[in-house]
Amino acid sequence: MIIKILFLACAVAAANAGALVSPVYGAPYSYGAWNPYSSYPAQPALASQQSNTYRSPFNLGQVSTYSKSIDTPFSSVRKADIRVSNPGVAVAPAYSSFAAPYVSHVGVAAPIAKVATTGGLLGVAYSPATTVSHMTYTNGLGLAYSCGDNEDSWILYKERPEWSDVTPVPEDDGPNPVVLIAHSEKFEDVYDYFRAVLQKNEMSERALELTKDAVELNPANYTVWQYRRDLLKALGTDLRPELDYVEAIIKNSSKNYQVWHHRRVLVEWLQDPSLELGLTGDALLQDPKNYHAWQHRQWAIKTFGLYDKEMDFVDNLISEDVRNNSAWNQRYFVVNNHLGWSDISVQKEVCYTLEKIKFVKNNESAWNYLRGVLLHDKRGISGNSIVTSFCEELYKNKCRSPYLLAFIIDICDEAIKKGETSSFHNADRAVELCQALANKYDRIRSKYWNYMCDKFKKYQQNETHKDDNIDS
Ligand SMILES: *[C@@H]1O[C@H](CO)[C@@H](O)[C@H](O)[C@H]1NC(C)=O
Ligand SMILES: *[C@@H]1O[C@H](CO)[C@@H](O)[C@H](O)[C@H]1NC(C)=O
Ligand SMILES: *[C@@H]1O[C@H](CO)[C@@H](O)[C@H](O)[C@H]1NC(C)=O
Ligand SMILES: *[C@@H]1O[C@H](CO)[C@@H](O)[C@H](O)[C@H]1NC(C)=O
Ligand SMILES: *[C@@H]1O[C@H](CO)[C@@H](O)[C@H](O)[C@H]1NC(C)=O
Repeated sequence: MIIKILFLACAVAAANAGALVSPVYGAPYSYGAWNPYSSYPAQPALASQQSNTYRSPFNLGQVSTYSKSIDTPFSSVRKADIRVSNPGVAVAPAYSSFAAPYVSHVGVAAPIAKVATTGGLLGVAYSPATTVSHMTYTNGLGLAYSCGDNEDSWILYKERPEWSDVTPVPEDDGPNPVVLIAHSEKFEDVYDYFRAVLQKNEMSERALELTKDAVELNPANYTVWQYRRDLLKALGTDLRPELDYVEAIIKNSSKNYQVWHHRRVLVEWLQDPSLELGLTGDALLQDPKNYHAWQHRQWAIKTFGLYDKEMDFVDNLISEDVRNNSAWNQRYFVVNNHLGWSDISVQKEVCYTLEKIKFVKNNESAWNYLRGVLLHDKRGISGNSIVTSFCEELYKNKCRSPYLLAFIIDICDEAIKKGETSSFHNADRAVELCQALANKYDRIRSKYWNYMCDKFKKYQQNETHKDDNIDS
């Protein structure tokens, strides 16, 4: 068992900042408390998900089950949802065709082909016959068949009696369709009926269900989501289950803008952001570069003022992995939008960052953050003595991280431009460091460093000329 020791002395350094010449780091502080990220990133998210819809053959009843479990270092979620709709309510639509399956139905007269063909009477069967072979479930209403992930048993809308009053609207490709997109029969069927209800602006539960099928086939269609929102509003639907629903979709299509947008509207309607940090935390665990997840998170934090929690979150991420660029970016976001860049705040961030750099000198993330912080330091990057002496201390101790050398070059550059060169920070030093980077420590970018070297040589000449002038 590994107990992580974190050195969190930065606050001490920050408090004494004014008096410090070189940073003094306080005693190590051991962090033994349980933290949800401690097993990260070794432990992947564990997830299982099952969903199924069982329909009785006459669509009298429908039982849908949905269960999932997700375990991540951030959270543990168990959900199960079983819905039963229209139990025992008989619908008797007219229909004109009847395919092979012969099914018995408890509670109503057993429908046989002959009965079935009489319009208006009970006895609806879905073709094609293959449905029969997928029967997986029986209940009091009779034989039911599975219709979950099984494409074979999908019932086209045009074959559903409860939709027989709707005339499907085929896609209008215009007079000269340039590109013909081949869609599956299921896709065309769902969208034909989607266009039909959309055209009529039908506000009904069945339309709401239909949008689910449309979403599943194409979660990127804005029109579908917008219509679904109109429906939710018009029907006064409970939005809590809708949050769960869109969460499930997000788990499937987390790179899709529309799903996140839907989520955002729901959260706005509910004025409840309590689940958003968890949701985006999970999504970011799967993919730390998920732009939409970061955006949604930042939106929620900004809109509902969740900054304090966020700083803890970011702190944990950085402590776990100081190379995590996303976490550093998020830290910048929180300070920039919430804490602000007061002198104290700048100094605190400087110390925090130097503390991290001490551990990992060879990764760019913390160095970049340091630069970002110093943008807000009135004295620039060359005027903060804690930073400059920290860098020289590292250099003296034989650290030759290219990020360190590049940083000292930047200090020199600024000092030259401000006319505030010193024995450490001047054109000579910059030339020397550029050469070291080009020839040894960052050969991959030697072209760039040679170019910088030439630039500083010009300053060198200018400085020399100045001296000449003074001498003569
Ligand atoms: C969404 O679907 C509707 C109906 O088929 C279609 O008119 C629209 O162009 C689609 N939008 C997108 C962005 O795919
Ligand atoms: C997730 O994607 C799978 C495969 O594309 C699909 O079968 C399933 O229905 C989707 N789940 C949701 C909630 O949309
Ligand atoms: C950075 O943090 C995210 C969580 O925001 C995590 O999922 C990701 O794996 C981390 N990145 C790296 C490079 O460790
Ligand atoms: C170091 O930081 C960069 C961000 O600049 C990141 O993309 C990269 O993965 C990190 N490298 C290592 C070895 O972790
Ligand atoms: C060098 O000095 C000349 C004349 O003072 C000036 O025009 C030029 O911009 C200087 N070069 C650099 C690189 O500062």
